[in-house]
Amino acid sequence: MPKLNENYLNVKASYLFSEIAHRVAAYTAANPDKNVIRMGIGDVTLPIGSEMIAKLHEGVDAMASSETFKGYGPEQGYDFLRNGIVDYYKRNGVTIAADEVFVSDGAKSDTGNITDLFAKDNIVMVPDPVYPVYVDTNTMDGREIIYIDANAENNFLPLPDPKVHADVIYICSPNNPTGAAYNKEQLKVWVDYALANEAVIIYDSAYEAFISDETLPRSIFAIEGARKCAIEFCSLSKTAGFTGTRCAYTIVPKDLKFTASNGTEMSLNAMWLRRQTTKFNGTSFIVQNGASAAFTEAGHKQCMENINYYRENEKIISEALDKRNIRYFGGVNSPYIWFECPNGMESWEFFDLMLNKIQVVGTPGTGFGKNGTHFFRLTSFNNHENTREAMKRFDTLFD
Ligand code: MLT
Repeated sequence: MPKLNENYLNVKASYLFSEIAHRVAAYTAANPDKNVIRMGIGDVTLPIGSEMIAKLHEGVDAMASSETFKGYGPEQGYDFLRNGIVDYYKRNGVTIAADEVFVSDGAKSDTGNITDLFAKDNIVMVPDPVYPVYVDTNTMDGREIIYIDANAENNFLPLPDPKVHADVIYICSPNNPTGAAYNKEQLKVWVDYALANEAVIIYDSAYEAFISDETLPRSIFAIEGARKCAIEFCSLSKTAGFTGTRCAYTIVPKDLKFTASNGTEMSLNAMWLRRQTTKFNGTSFIVQNGASAAFTEAGHKQCMENINYYRENEKIISEALDKRNIRYFGGVNSPYIWFECPNGMESWEFFDLMLNKIQVVGTPGTGFGKNGTHFFRLTSFNNHENTREAMKRFDTLFD
């Protein structure tokens, strides 16, 4: 009999969004005539822009001829894509090198897989509430997790306590689920803390394209010192509509080095390359070709048009919450709006009320941690018509 990884006994039976999908499927099976509006999982609804689509088609066509056919691709991703990413960073005032960019199929898998680089006895610090992948993947490995409270008092932007030590720190900004985004001064506090603790920051920047306050950093590498303590994870899922197409990239600076117990200096860039080349064979040429268009001027413009469309939904949701004097966070620099459940309700209870009474699906804050117990998350990713209808129905909850 194999000895199992019994750490799986310590994670919830199903992943948050699987649990929601099951509950919604059960409801729709029992109520096939009801029009359910989905504002739960952060999944985009607009089609991919024509610049990216043209390059996806070009990629498919390349496979049809022996002159242009592609087999296994370069280990870290095609140069044309990695150079496009480097240029995009440059336009945002941040210098990275192409061999620090690793193209992959998703920020979710990369933020989960990065745990391979760290020993089991590290102290992992995560904010609560937080994207459940960070907690679940470390729990699966049996690592000790310490939580740092994100709450209304600190605007869901907690800062480190210098008296508390951590080895691996997770930061997501703009934040999933709260929508809160760190400014440069706040991020500098985290970078200084990480350097003082010889810790590494796992920086999830998947929602950077949603930042509308131009003073906010889009990359942790805009902060001095971050190249020595941070890994950054980005994604085309929400930026370019690639949730189904799958493409992401992770930046591992070559300055990121730590000393092993035998005194050997270990480079996280070299370790990640070793890990990826062993366990991953890259993102398809077709997808990378399509993704490359998102970093051109014309492609980026199309991505921003879609993001601006979703921003209209943020306004529709915010106005409905304002009307009922419901306190909320996010929705300005992020596609997520995080609000207090009315009448102090528990969030799964509120989820069931929303589903059963008005057929609107959101995400219960409890799924992101104890500080989400009385909060609820809506996404701006549906269309205008459904978002308006959902918020009209929402208003009836108070009649
Ligand atoms: C979410 O809704 O939190 C995200 O869509 C999940 C993800 O990106 O994996």
